[in-house]
Amino acid sequence: MSILNSPGKQQTQKELYEKTRSVIVKDSTTGCSQLAAEVAALIRERQAQGENVVLGLATGSTPVPFYKELIRLHQEEGLSFKNVITFNLDEYHGLAPDHRESYNRFMREQLFDHIDLPKENINIPDGTVSLDAVYESCLDYEKRIEEAGGIDLQILGIGRTGHIGFNEPGSSRDSRTRMITLDRITRRDAAADFLGEANVPRHAITMGVGTILAAKRLVLMAWGGNKAEIVQQAVEGKVTDRISASFLQEHSNATFLVDDAASSQLTRVHLPWLVGSVKWDGKMIKRAVTWLSHRFEKPVLRLVDGDYNESGAGEILTASGRAYDVNISVFDMVKHTITGWPGGKPGTDDSHRPERAEPASKRVLIFSPEPSDAIMSLGGTIHRLIEQGHQVKLVVQTSGGLRVPDLAARKFAAILQEMAGLLGDGGSSAGGEYASQVLKQLEDKGAFGDDTLDIKRLKALILRGEVRDAAQVCGLAADTVVFQDLPFYEKGRYRQFQMQQEDVDSTAALLQEYQPNQIYATGHLADPSALQTLCYRTIEQALEGFKDEAWVKDCRLWLYRGKESELNSYEIDMAVPMSPEQLDLKGEAIRKFQSISQEELDSSGRNQTTAKRYDQLGMAEYEAIESFERG
Ligand code: GLP
Repeated sequence: MSILNSPGKQQTQKELYEKTRSVIVKDSTTGCSQLAAEVAALIRERQAQGENVVLGLATGSTPVPFYKELIRLHQEEGLSFKNVITFNLDEYHGLAPDHRESYNRFMREQLFDHIDLPKENINIPDGTVSLDAVYESCLDYEKRIEEAGGIDLQILGIGRTGHIGFNEPGSSRDSRTRMITLDRITRRDAAADFLGEANVPRHAITMGVGTILAAKRLVLMAWGGNKAEIVQQAVEGKVTDRISASFLQEHSNATFLVDDAASSQLTRVHLPWLVGSVKWDGKMIKRAVTWLSHRFEKPVLRLVDGDYNESGAGEILTASGRAYDVNISVFDMVKHTITGWPGGKPGTDDSHRPERAEPASKRVLIFSPEPSDAIMSLGGTIHRLIEQGHQVKLVVQTSGGLRVPDLAARKFAAILQEMAGLLGDGGSSAGGEYASQVLKQLEDKGAFGDDTLDIKRLKALILRGEVRDAAQVCGLAADTVVFQDLPFYEKGRYRQFQMQQEDVDSTAALLQEYQPNQIYATGHLADPSALQTLCYRTIEQALEGFKDEAWVKDCRLWLYRGKESELNSYEIDMAVPMSPEQLDLKGEAIRKFQSISQEELDSSGRNQTTAKRYDQLGMAEYEAIESFERG
């Protein structure tokens, strides 16, 4: 199906709730190659007519696979961009074009340097313009778009606040290119790129909502589960300046291009019985009944026939009998997910337990993409596994050093320097010299320069210390924490990591050596270019290589969600309750990560929400719950 040339509004019954046309694709690679093919066709069509094409471009990790495909089309299929004029959506204010995080540099590295687009055809808002010249510069940008004949096709991503470009909540329908103050969430999301939230610029120059809506066609791409909720609100919710992407509903040729994970909250995917018939298997019934229970704020066992009928789920009763029977069966399904024995309860009947009883002492590998991920998501479960006699190893997949602010590195280097002084060698020892070297390198690179190898190493060491302390609070001895330092992380940077075979090999070696009975991992639903996703792929691919080995057949994979989302009640296959003391303990473990912003690490709220939801379904009332899906 053609993405660009089809009508702007939804057509079918299934898409009833969608107010902007949405195309769901399996993954970003599929979506990007479809979109790139459409763009190539448009460019060639105009070339044949001797005309230009005006493309509006976006930054962020979302369009990266699209740009890769355009480069491939240029290099392998001779697609020329000589007749293309581009306008970028936005730029941080205060960043020079060569700054490592400027969108100007991003576009050169990700696209412009690899195709034959004439330099004079490139337009990006100027981030270096002085405050008193901003207004004129924005007017000029609008004028240039107009002179080029308007934008034929505007590519968009979506921020977590629902922004397009940098049109943060409050941006009006008719706003034009202007300077904007960045939202707190946006700055927090960019914190890893800028080595700390404090370094993220406060302002940006962005095309306005009105500028964007004036484009003839709009394609908004979104990948990964982290975008699912905001995509649903933008596509199905009301048009509001709180979510600037919702204005796409007012455009006659706008398309949301989303992968499976990003579409997961759209009604046709999330609540499919509301828009058509579905196959009522156990999973679907559980999904519908827990949804009913949350919707009516009634425990599962108190739902009556009328509740089912009134809310479009009456079909379940036709297929499965009375509400009374369905309620009991769903109640049992949910109840059986709860266990205080995440490694299985030895010597008991495990037919209704999430994990098998034998072997009584399991070899458990817990993969943590960045040092804090596993502690935040399953600190309580780790504690229980150890208490219950399992052999647990925490595999820290990447050093996390790219996140550590310079301030922390400076502090440790200064301590080392002073210690060398105290030891009476006047700082001339290897340690003292190393410390002075790092301090000088920090000075030389300034706030935004690239970290030298020494700085990178020191930052990684700081996090190593912190994760060891945190793991210890959860009961893990220092020698059970394995630092994998996956090569893609060591060589790359956020939003631009590239996984290689060596990463898979490193994970394969670990798995082969340990041959676990249980694995805990995350990253299966994140944005495809996210570090967590790449870490997960190394596990997936490594396991694929061992699929015929006996230990893999006997190994269970438990998936946890990262810090930004939580599992819906119906998705949970194992719910591990936490007492108030256990929650406190987990809090203590998380606080060991002093070099990372504590706000970023706040996850106990999520565990409490999961517990409240279970309570609301009619389960026992726990303080908090850590939750997992079966992989
Ligand atoms: C920034 C950009 C947006 C982009 C958003 C999402 O805010 N200004 O244009 O859509 O980030 O970024 P990502 O694609 O990395 O999720």
